[in-house]
Amino acid sequence: MKECPQIIGKGEKMEDKLLIKIAMEAREKSYSPYSNYKVGAAVYTKSGKVFTGCNIESASFTPTICAERVAVSKCISEGYKDIEKIAVIGSEVKTSFPCGVCRQFMSEFGKDIKVICARSLDSYDVYTLEDLLPNSFGPEDLY
Ligand code: THU
Repeated sequence: MKECPQIIGKGEKMEDKLLIKIAMEAREKSYSPYSNYKVGAAVYTKSGKVFTGCNIESASFTPTICAERVAVSKCISEGYKDIEKIAVIGSEVKTSFPCGVCRQFMSEFGKDIKVICARSLDSYDVYTLEDLLPNSFGPEDLY
């Protein structure tokens, strides 16, 4: 978990650009020898915590996990469910959007989560999960 005390003080707002920069750093850790497509993600919680993730591939392919699910899993498993936003960056040529599985996985924790889909620090689009996955199946459907 990163608290980023050197770049963001307590109670200060996390800028989208800074979250993208953190996702870019996480992308460096990508284990992607099969696709050679590196992805990084950074989650920011309403309580001010940052959790990062990168994609991790597997020789048997199916167990491959996306950067977004790694970051969200780290966040949830550390006890934080108050996700405010997530930044995702893969290619520098084309803006990266979360795959369908990641959209479903994230929607469990809030349809109002901001998803920052980036290509670079200066080129990104911001959506809500509701924008990216409208009329989704969620916890409320099971009750
Ligand atoms: N990938 C992600 O990490 N996030 C996505 O939303 C889409 C795809 C990864 C999985 C795999 O390691 C590589 O990108 C190529 O699909």
